[in-house]
This record gives sequence, C-alpha cells and structure tokens, in this order.
Amino acid sequence: MSTFKAPKGTYDLTPPDSAKYLAVREAIAAPLKNSGYGYIETPGFEDVALFSRGVGESTDIVSKEMYTLTTKGGSELALRPEGTASVLRAALEANLHKLGNLPVKLWYSGSYYRYERPQKGRYRHFSQVGAEAIGAEDPALDAELIILADQAYRSLGLRNFRILLNSLGDKECRPVYRDALQEFLRELDLDDDTRRRIELNPLRVLDDKRPEVQKQLVGAPVLRDYLCDACKAYHEEVRDLLTAEGVVYEDDEKLVRGLDYYTRTTFEFVHDGLGSQSAVGGGGRYDGLSEMIGGPALPSVGWALGVDRTVLALEAEGIELELPASTSVFAVPLGEEARRVLFAKVTELRRLGVATDFAFGGRGLKGAMKSANRSGARFTVVAGERDLAEGVVQLKDMESGEQQPVALDALVAEIQQKLA
Ligand code: HAM
Repeated sequence: MSTFKAPKGTYDLTPPDSAKYLAVREAIAAPLKNSGYGYIETPGFEDVALFSRGVGESTDIVSKEMYTLTTKGGSELALRPEGTASVLRAALEANLHKLGNLPVKLWYSGSYYRYERPQKGRYRHFSQVGAEAIGAEDPALDAELIILADQAYRSLGLRNFRILLNSLGDKECRPVYRDALQEFLRELDLDDDTRRRIELNPLRVLDDKRPEVQKQLVGAPVLRDYLCDACKAYHEEVRDLLTAEGVVYEDDEKLVRGLDYYTRTTFEFVHDGLGSQSAVGGGGRYDGLSEMIGGPALPSVGWALGVDRTVLALEAEGIELELPASTSVFAVPLGEEARRVLFAKVTELRRLGVATDFAFGGRGLKGAMKSANRSGARFTVVAGERDLAEGVVQLKDMESGEQQPVALDALVAEIQQKLA
C-alpha cells in the first residue's frame, strides 16, 4: 500500500476483474460495429458552456455534479459528465453532417465524471459505451438503437432488465404541457427547493421519490394527453417497430431523464437486481441539441450504457462470462542457459501470434509452476540443463497433467499443432 488511495467515489480496475469490463465494453460495441456505427473519440474535457447549454443549466448534472476548472490560460473547462454533447460538437466541427451521408452514426467508449454522492452503482468516475445517430428523423432509427442495446445485453446473458419507454413531445407540444403541469404543481404543498424546481424544470418534480410528494401528484396532467399528432404518430411507429421485432418494453409516462436535451423518444434500461441505482443505460432523441450549441437543425437520437452498472447486473444475475485465458503457453527456464534458449522460443511463439508468457526473475521450479497455473496457460514448457544437453524441453499439458520431452527444434511446430 502506498500513501495514496483512489479518490473518493472512484475505483481501479485490476486483473483479473478488469477482463470482465473489457468484455462488457466489447459486447456493447459489437452490435454497433455490425450496424454501420463508426468509432469516435473526443477529449475528456470540454468548454463548460458546451454542457451548461447542451445538457441544461437546470439539471443536477450541470448545476451540482460537474467537475469544473479554470486553466492557467483562463479557459473554463469541465470534465465531461456525459458523451452526447461532446460527440455532437465533434461531428459538427469535423463537418461529418455535410458529407451527405445522414444519419452520421457514431459509437464511443470512455470515462465520465460526475460529482455525485457515491454509493453502490454510483461513482464519481464511471464508464459508458454510447451510440449517437445524428441528422435523421426516422422512427426506425430510434427502434434500431433500442434493439441494438437489447441485443448487447442479451449477448452478455442478461435477462432481468426492462426497457422503459416514453415520449417527451417536441417544441410544439411540450411547452403547452409544461404550462399545464406548472399550474397544477404551484397549487401543491411543497418545500422551497421543490417550488424552485417547478419554475426551472417542472417535469423533474414528477420524478420526486418522496411519498408525501407522490401522493399529491395523483391527478397531475400527463404528457401523453398533450402530445401533438406528429409526436403521437412518431411514437406509435417506434412502438410498433419494437413490437414487430419482439423487443418487449413498458410504457412509462413518468420517465423524464435527467438531461434537458431530450425530445420525443426517451428510454431507460433498468435492471431489477441493482437496488436504487437501477438504470443500466438510457437515451433518447435530442432534435434540438445541435441548434442549442450553435449548429444547424440536426434531429438525432442515441444512448449510453453504463459499464460499471452492467458489470453489477451480471453479478446480480450470477453470470460468469466465458473469458478465454489470456495466456496459452508458459515457459519455465531452470538456469542461465535455459533462460536464453526459452526466451528465444517465447519471442518466436509470440511473433507467430501464440499468447505466451515467461517465468521472470529466476525463481525456482515450484514458484514458477504456480505462476504457470495462475496464468491459465494450456501448456507449460520446462527446460533445465540436462534437457538442453539432450536437445529437448519438457512440454506439459496443463489439462491432462501429462508431460513429455519434445525436441527443441520441433517445439514451436508441436505447440502450434496442439493449439490448432
Ligand atoms: P445518463 O442516463 O445520464 O445518460 O447515463 C447513462 C448511463 O450511465 C446510466 O444509465 C448509468 O448506467 C451510467 N451512469 C450515469 N451516471 C453514473 C454514475 N455516477 N456512476 C455509475 N454509472 C453512471 C447519458 O449520459 C446520455 N448522454 C445518454 C444519451 C446518449 N442520450 C442520448 N445519447
């Protein structure tokens, strides 16, 4: 242990557990790569204003949870709390939307930062894999994204998740609803904080978990009754497409999401084994975001899945991913001469693409065999002076436990044949 610890609300990924996180990232990315999404990477920090304008000044994410800093040069930056605003900013900056191929479909994977109260499943540094489809208004695109997330989770073996689906309306119908909701909420018996929220972000009040608030919300106007015909038709089409593909979802008219840029389709993937931090992923349409950050009108839709929570969901369901052992061959030299000879064989095997490791540090046979076991290697190669004098090495099959001498010259070919 050193003097230092990982900062509060963060944790390190170390072997062997880290392999699980890599596998989860790959499993989420695979359906996207298979569906025309190209990889994008953006900086870990951006201008604060990108998020305050994009995600919304009134959201918890911007008003309470952003890590902000002023550089020596005087720039106001924020560690990214989410990926959508950055990805859209980068797509606009690179003029990807002008190349004539709309929608621009992008996927990403990275670290995000929110100054939240840490608890299980809620961290200050966490990781997401996300997808954004920029520049097309088409219910099939919304359905595609939901189907791909569903496919990713299923490929990991997850079963106890649910998809919550809602429509938040658009710039025509939502303001009408917002007014009606505010009028209703202003009549209720609420604390000052919540009263402020009525004026800033009334839809979030519907999300209030406190029973004394929920009790008063009975009879509140519901957005569904205010959706304009275009939004209604769009939402029906998304639902029909999902149903036709056998993707089961639940209509959840209370689903609001914590970011201001959403319009129309919004959805969340929740897992029932995670307690209060049950959202493993979420997303939706954000038709106005591009204009909010100074770009042209580009209706878009996307999602992000939380890697940390997805790993917790796997654990909650008792799912062990089948991770192939990272090492196929482990070489154990006994003595100086053997070290030189086996090191050359290790290098040769690696150059041929065989995952190989080596007992470093000149430890004895017992300790080295322990390392060989721990590596998960299928074969161990042991060589001492006497073996080398006879021009052989000992090849041990770690599954059967059988060991046999193999001519040094034939070793590489023999291993390749056995692994094939
Ligand atoms: P979000 O719902 O804020 O959406 O985050 C997506 C997912 O990231 C959550 O469902 C959760 O799994 C994970 N997550 C969020 N905060 C934390 C935390 N503090 N600790 C652990 N995991 C966390 C977005 O970020 C949007 N950008 C999604 C999107 C993409 N919408 C459109 N395109």
